[in-house]
Amino acid sequence: MKGIMIELKNVTKYFRVGFFGTKKNAVENLSLNIEEGKVTGFFGPNGAGKSTTIKMIVGLINPSGGNIKINGYNASDYRARLKLGYLPENPSFPRGLKGIEIINYYSKLLDKRINKDEIYDALKLAGIFYAKNIQANKYSKGMTQRLALAVSILGDPEILIFDEPLSGLDPIGRKEFKDIIFKLKERKKTIFFSSHVLADSKELCDSIAVLVNGRLIKNKDVADIEKEAEGYAEEKKDYRLPAEYSTPLEIYLYDLMLKNRKN
Ligand SMILES: Nc1ncnc2c1ncn2[C@@H]1O[C@H](COP(=O)(O)OP(=O)(O)O)[C@@H](O)[C@H]1O
Ligand SMILES: [Mg+2]
Repeated sequence: MKGIMIELKNVTKYFRVGFFGTKKNAVENLSLNIEEGKVTGFFGPNGAGKSTTIKMIVGLINPSGGNIKINGYNASDYRARLKLGYLPENPSFPRGLKGIEIINYYSKLLDKRINKDEIYDALKLAGIFYAKNIQANKYSKGMTQRLALAVSILGDPEILIFDEPLSGLDPIGRKEFKDIIFKLKERKKTIFFSSHVLADSKELCDSIAVLVNGRLIKNKDVADIEKEAEGYAEEKKDYRLPAEYSTPLEIYLYDLMLKNRKN
């Protein structure tokens, strides 16, 4: 049994919305363990609460209730972030700076000295080395995503948290990005990434957690979910499904999400 890298216990987050400041739960009583050295996919429809959960894990926002531990430290403790790299949902960078200037700047924010070779390695792994001398505001969405990925892997952190790393990329970009995640997986990193497209990214995962309306509705190893899905999808043979869902696992999880959705 491997160690638990990230532990969420009864985590709730509400936001106050509207004129009267009514409480609205974005995440409800979420308990989840993320194991060391594994890739965990965090799936769920738009608005499920994935980004809110991720922001709490990386310490950008605090839970309204419950607690989050990373490597034994509370998520709000700076020590929790020392071994953690984060790729936000919609990365953006200051205008007028070249890619290399941006990553240099970020390298200085870390707790250890990062030398030029390490910066180049990160840019190369992320596939953006060739564009390091171009101003980042001239980058395409895919290039921006790659620069943000390079920044997130600076200093070789053990834990990587990617929020929708594949969204907005074309099929080739998605394939290349997945290959990078595979490489990081080979380096035994603990990877937690969100996606609203199951078909796109399930092959990366050892384990899958599904969030719908802020609630965790499934959290298991892929092999176990596949077993559950086998019989289920067989019954559903003639079911009308979006074309991108074809394997029993996809059909099963798609249906589960649909059932658990409240409008
Ligand atoms: N700062 C905020 N203020 C109010 N509501 C928010 C805020 N951030 C997120 N929400 C709401 O919380 C819910 C979950 O959002 P989010 O975590 O971004 O979902 P996902 O990443 O799964 O698409 C949504 O209904 C969203 O509108
Ligand atoms: Mg999101």
